[in-house]
Amino acid sequence: MQDLKGATAIVTGGSRGLGPYIARALAREGMNIALAARDGAKLEGVQKEIEALGVRALSVPTDVNQPEDRARLVEQAAAGLGPIDLLVNNAGVEPTMAFVDIDEAAITGTIQTNLTSCLLLMRLVLPGMVGRKRGHVVNIASMAGKIPIPYDSIYSATKFALVGVSHAVRSELRGSGVGLSVVCPGFIDDAGMYADAVDETGVAAPAIAGTSKPEQVAGAVVRAVKHNVAEVIVTPISGRPLAAAAALVPSFGQTMMRLTGVQGAFKHMADSRAGND
Ligand SMILES: NC(=O)c1ccc[n+]([C@@H]2O[C@H](COP(=O)([O-])OP(=O)(O)OC[C@H]3O[C@@H](n4cnc5c(N)ncnc54)[C@H](OP(=O)(O)O)[C@@H]3O)[C@@H](O)[C@H]2O)c1
Repeated sequence: MQDLKGATAIVTGGSRGLGPYIARALAREGMNIALAARDGAKLEGVQKEIEALGVRALSVPTDVNQPEDRARLVEQAAAGLGPIDLLVNNAGVEPTMAFVDIDEAAITGTIQTNLTSCLLLMRLVLPGMVGRKRGHVVNIASMAGKIPIPYDSIYSATKFALVGVSHAVRSELRGSGVGLSVVCPGFIDDAGMYADAVDETGVAAPAIAGTSKPEQVAGAVVRAVKHNVAEVIVTPISGRPLAAAAALVPSFGQTMMRLTGVQGAFKHMADSRAGND
């Protein structure tokens, strides 16, 4: 979709972290935005910022894991702003822990939020988009969907699945007028779950991985939508050999993860959160 002016976007995870950056970047392109997350008060704060950019915005308090909330989100966005042109599946959770310490609720909850609810929201909006021959979905995955991450295994599993399903469905949509992109950020400074982990645990991203800015993730979303890009990786170039190694020779990829300190960084986060250090 080249011209986003006046079009309607749903951005999940719009209350804090990367979501508000993505919503503001889309609003600067002229899109009207329906913001979804559980924290209604925070959504309203972001809504005011979006409206100040000269577009329309809605706050729709939503738990993406509740079927009735997902249905209400899509209905209210369409009723208030017009047919849905863009869904950004951005809401996510990351329980950084040793696999043997994760309980059943964290496993099922992470899969539900990061994967199942994204698929179910796609199922709600895609038929209308295909019928109108117009629309786009952006799934926010992670470099953890390109590289298996020790001490972040369930998160990594959900993001690998989200990358896989994104490419598969994108191929099904070819020629339909509807696009689908997946965006894979690495460590992001200033806002979001990694920045929160830095505050909470003092972890530092290993030099090889480096960090990027939330504005770069937001810019990647806009570029993906306007140019129908299949996949955008948002990480410094120095981190990309890790992904190549993980894809080509998985055992070598995991050796590199240990030698470069990436595994150690996630173990540090897991240990800090478990109170083991
Ligand atoms: N920040 C990074 O370094 C980084 C790197 C790679 C990928 N990512 C991905 O980027 C996306 C955004 O992450 P972030 O860094 O912005 O995380 P964050 O700061 O923890 O924010 C997560 C967002 O998701 C929402 N959310 C969580 N569970 C929800 C639920 N059940 N229903 C509705 N909303 C829910 C939260 O809102 P409420 O709590 O108000 O519901 C919040 O708006 C995620 O998919 C994440 O995996 C982030």
